[in-house]
Formats: sequence, C-alpha cells, structure tokens
Amino acid sequence: MAFATTKHLKLRACRESDKDSYLAQENDQRVTRTASPVFVVPKGDSSWKEVQEKFFSTSLLVVIVEVKREYAGLRKWDEGEIRKEGDEKKQEDWDKELYAGYAALNFKMPKNRDARFGVTLIPQWWGNGFATEITEWILQHGFEQLNLHRISLGVFEGNAAAKRVYDKCGFVQEGLTRKAFWINGRWIDEILMGILDEDYWARKNRLAGKA
Ligand SMILES: CC(C)(COP(=O)(O)OP(=O)(O)OC[C@H]1O[C@@H](n2cnc3c(N)ncnc32)[C@H](O)[C@@H]1OP(=O)(O)O)[C@@H](O)C(=O)NCCC(=O)NCCS
Repeated sequence: MAFATTKHLKLRACRESDKDSYLAQENDQRVTRTASPVFVVPKGDSSWKEVQEKFFSTSLLVVIVEVKREYAGLRKWDEGEIRKEGDEKKQEDWDKELYAGYAALNFKMPKNRDARFGVTLIPQWWGNGFATEITEWILQHGFEQLNLHRISLGVFEGNAAAKRVYDKCGFVQEGLTRKAFWINGRWIDEILMGILDEDYWARKNRLAGKA
C-alpha cells in the first residue's frame, strides 16, 4: 500500500521484494558516479542487509518510489533489459518495471530539527519531472507533518540535473565544501544547500497567490 501518492508516483515503505531493484540501482555507475560519496564497488546481498540495518531503519524517513501503472509508458528501456508483455506479466514483473528509486530524510541533529535529504532514481525514469515531484512532496511532508525547521543537502559540483531540481523547489546555496569528493579522477566541490520552514511557507503562499 502506498504511504502517499503524487501525480505520477506512489511513495511507500521498503519491502524485501525491492532487493533486486535496489541492488541493480546501487550497481549502476550512471547513478553512483554522481551520487555516491563512498567507494564505488560492486554491491551484493550483504550490502542489502547493511542498508536495511544502517540506513532504512535509522533514517527519519525512507520512501521507495514506484511509478503508477498508468504511467508505465514513460519508462525508457536499457538494451538487454527483459520486457514482459500482456498475460505473461506477473505482479513481481510489474514491481520491477515500476520501481524508480528512493528518497530519504536523515536527522543531522534532532534537537535542531534539521534533516538531510537525498533522492536517487534509476536512469530509466530520468527526465520525467519525478525528482521534482518527490522533492516537492518531501518538503510538504517534512515541514507540514514532521515539523522540521530545516532541510539540508549536498550536491556534487557538475550534477546539473540535481542542482536544477533543488533550485526549482526553493533550496538555496548556503556554502561549498571545496574539493571534498574524488569523482571520475578529480577532486570536486560539494555544494551545500538548504531550505528553512519559513522559506517553505513563504514559497507556498506565493505559489497560492496569497503573498
Ligand atoms: C538527479 C536526479 C534525481 C534527477 O531526476 P529527474 O527525475 O530526471 O529530475 P527532473 O526531471 O525532476 O528534473 C531535472 C531537471 O534538470 C534539468 N537537467 C537535466 N539534465 C541537465 C543538465 N545536464 N544540465 C542542466 N539541466 C539539466 C532538466 O531539464 C530538469 O529541469 P526542468 O524541469 O527545468 O526542465 C536523477 O538524475 C538521479 O537520480 N541521478 C543519480 C543520483 C543523483 O545524482 N541524485 C542526487 C544526489 S544530490
């Protein structure tokens, strides 16, 4: 069952059947190259256990992003991916086809109600506005339900798609950690961004034409 829905997406808790899709995502260098702060190495079954223990169960919020069935046609298919059709398609085939990634909030310091946000989607779904849709939902849920004061994030220099999403959703650049990450053979900066509860409400009122 979905925890929440947006126009194109279902946002739900993680389940054991997400393992293969999650590991495929973590082993896809198109994804890890722009998002992974740790060693980019193959991830197997042990990493699924580790992520459940150290990430899913300790985060303030993790949602698996699943595309609604009526938007399945927006998916791009990689060469060699097996695409089942019609009657041969079981629920598990739909689950794999519609898995799009995950988004998370982690408390940096609970006392200050400051949570760190991250979103990662598989390339098959990039370019459909989904990260923007998820980020808008995270802001709404984070400020209106979880009573956060700040949402913070870091984005690698050169990750133009992610930076664009965060700019569009009202995050502002607050700083920069110089040459913090070794990516593709060079040191790159991490751009630090944040949005405050007051920024969120001001933007919401502005978009609703109230201010
Ligand atoms: C970054 C990521 C989440 C974006 O997801 P997405 O669903 O494709 O994003 P959206 O479609 O909502 O928005 C992307 C925006 O960036 C723009 N964009 C895409 N590539 C771009 C580029 N190379 N240069 C400039 N803008 C770019 C798009 O045009 C779009 O802006 P628009 O709505 O004004 O046209 C996705 O590519 C991803 O998961 N990447 C790997 C993991 C990652 O980097 N996560 C973020 C870590 S900070």
